[in-house]
Amino acid sequence: MKRQILVTSALPYANGAIHLGHLMEVIQTDIWVRFQKMRGHDCIYVCADDAHGTAIMISANDQGITPEQLITRTNQQHQADFADFLIAFDNYYTTHSEENRQFSEGIFQQLEANGHIKRRTITQLFDPEKQLFLADRYIRGTCPKCGAPDQYGDNCEVCGSTYSPSELIDPRSAISGAIPIEKASEHFFFDLPVFSNMLKAWIRSGTLQQQVANKVSEWLDDELQQWDISRDAPYFGFEIPDAPGKFFYVWVDAPIGYMASFQHYCQRKGIDFDSYWHPKSTAELYHFIGKDIVNFHTLFWPAVLSSAGYRTPSAVFVHGFLTVDGTKMSKSRGTFINARTYLDHLDPEYLRYYLAAKLSSGVDDLDLNLDDFVQRVNSDLVGKLVNIASRCSGFINKGFDGRLASNPDNLGLLAGMQQIKPSVAQHYEDRDYGKAIRLIMAAADQANQYINDRQPWVIAKADKQSSELQAICSTGINAFRLLLCYLKPVLPTLAEKAEQFLNIEPLTWSSSDSILTDHTINKFSPLITRVEGANVEAMINTTRQEYTQQQEASKAESAATDANGFEAEIAFDDFIKVDLRVARIVNANQVEGADKLLQLTLDLGKDSNGESITRNVFSGIKSVYAPEQLIGKLTVVVANLKPRKMKFGVSEGMVLAAGPGGQDIWLLEPHAGAAPGMRIT
Ligand code: MSP
Ligand code: ZN
Repeated sequence: MKRQILVTSALPYANGAIHLGHLMEVIQTDIWVRFQKMRGHDCIYVCADDAHGTAIMISANDQGITPEQLITRTNQQHQADFADFLIAFDNYYTTHSEENRQFSEGIFQQLEANGHIKRRTITQLFDPEKQLFLADRYIRGTCPKCGAPDQYGDNCEVCGSTYSPSELIDPRSAISGAIPIEKASEHFFFDLPVFSNMLKAWIRSGTLQQQVANKVSEWLDDELQQWDISRDAPYFGFEIPDAPGKFFYVWVDAPIGYMASFQHYCQRKGIDFDSYWHPKSTAELYHFIGKDIVNFHTLFWPAVLSSAGYRTPSAVFVHGFLTVDGTKMSKSRGTFINARTYLDHLDPEYLRYYLAAKLSSGVDDLDLNLDDFVQRVNSDLVGKLVNIASRCSGFINKGFDGRLASNPDNLGLLAGMQQIKPSVAQHYEDRDYGKAIRLIMAAADQANQYINDRQPWVIAKADKQSSELQAICSTGINAFRLLLCYLKPVLPTLAEKAEQFLNIEPLTWSSSDSILTDHTINKFSPLITRVEGANVEAMINTTRQEYTQQQEASKAESAATDANGFEAEIAFDDFIKVDLRVARIVNANQVEGADKLLQLTLDLGKDSNGESITRNVFSGIKSVYAPEQLIGKLTVVVANLKPRKMKFGVSEGMVLAAGPGGQDIWLLEPHAGAAPGMRIT
């Protein structure tokens, strides 16, 4: 029976580049989707960028662009990265879309009509400078338990304790450095506890892996809390209907983004959205996610869907985290590898194969061991798989014009390879790709062993048109075709090249039921090249360099001017230290031997005894002003500049002028109503 399946991967945040961790997830999903499609099922794969939230707002602000500009730019990069890794989304969208706004509003209104939305005033820390409420991760301070400085608002990375941000000692806003204040505001809550029984039933209905079900069940045994679904302006997201200044928390409209992306696809393709999302739908719905976002997908999401009158997911497939060489991906070690950096050095199918070979249906972390990666790809793909074709094709092309025999030599070998098909299929279906790959590679070993045993090169030496030679090599080519058929979900490009070489229609899952006889193949050209360790090294070096450059750039930025030439930000306290005064130029003279300087005598008003305060200042404005033009003019002077001893005398201040220099210098001249000595603030 033809299944109708809708599949999603988690929506990557729109403020960062795609990295190998994201890729592990989408490669896992893509293999599954390709497998289902090859089997002839209707399988639709949608995803999107997760475009809302404080992080995106701040990130855009830091880059001096609007959030819309930021998410448009990132969306293009994400799509290019995924396409180059051969991720075949049917639709890749953004949560910042009209469809998503409508679904989010509609679902909210339904929850509210059902009495599942509560309003409550809560007190939170607020950044008085930036005028925004601070999420826990935007507050830093000293740990109240162990005294470690510079810890997050909700947990200490040093001693591991958790606390509320108000317990932090000496808290600061991580955005402005200001001391946060407490401020009250009304929030909207989703009444999650009402769904406790519904969720208990849902998690035991085959929707979750055992390990995940156990974890969620622990949460359900504890008392559930109402879920805070609103955020105050300024926030980049959707405003809540009839609640000006209140926005949906990003995690509300993010999963709804799955629906919106699908809806966008339905409109393009004329597919009936409801037949997939109706509560009685027989279509299957699967979410592939990482272990860090299980609560959002197994508590809030099914509860929200059921309240809003939609179907719940058929299953949520959780995977572990990707580590590199045994540890968490690290920027300084060069193992936090971006998709683009990988692509600049290596073939995407190497990674697809390596991950497939190690993926299981569990939630354990998966380690990308770089030496093993090189070794495994070379030995399996080059040494075993492609080797079968390259050992046999030459003889077929040279001796038989590319014609395969009508009777291959060893039908038993081929039948054996066909027999593993149901197991391979089951492993793919179960996301146990590692097991599928082991079966396939064991079959490849048998094929190579067979060729070793029959030694076609020995036969060819005696007679390159021997029918025995043709039969042996035809067996080899058929073995290669069967293996490729099984590997096609993992290696789509290699499969396509092989289809061309074999001169056949695109392989489907049922192609492996038959074998090729009396068929002419094309000339063999290398299908994949070896991985070179040097390329892996170059990739790590690039990643490390990118990191060092970033570090230096941010250091330089805090030290010098920004992209627009503005000096680094200063605090008000710094600004107020500068004593700017109105001064009258009472005398001006040429300075003998100086090209640029004039000597000015300034009147800065009267002291407490009524005496004039005068200052001697040297100023580099000779190129535009003659001394007599200046006498009597008002100007602005930095009055508390430490006196500087210059070649021509001591300068006791600095007059302010605008312009780059040369003929373009304009002395600042306050309004004539100003009087010498007035402070400029
Ligand atoms: N925007 C949310 C998801 C919203 S879904 C409605 C998010 N984004 S994310 O960019 O941080 O992560 C996207 C996916 O990548 C998540 O499933 C996450 O678990 C996964 N991974 C991120 N880093 C990972 C690894 N190092 N390893 C494996 N998967 C990882 O969370
Ligand atoms: Zn601590």
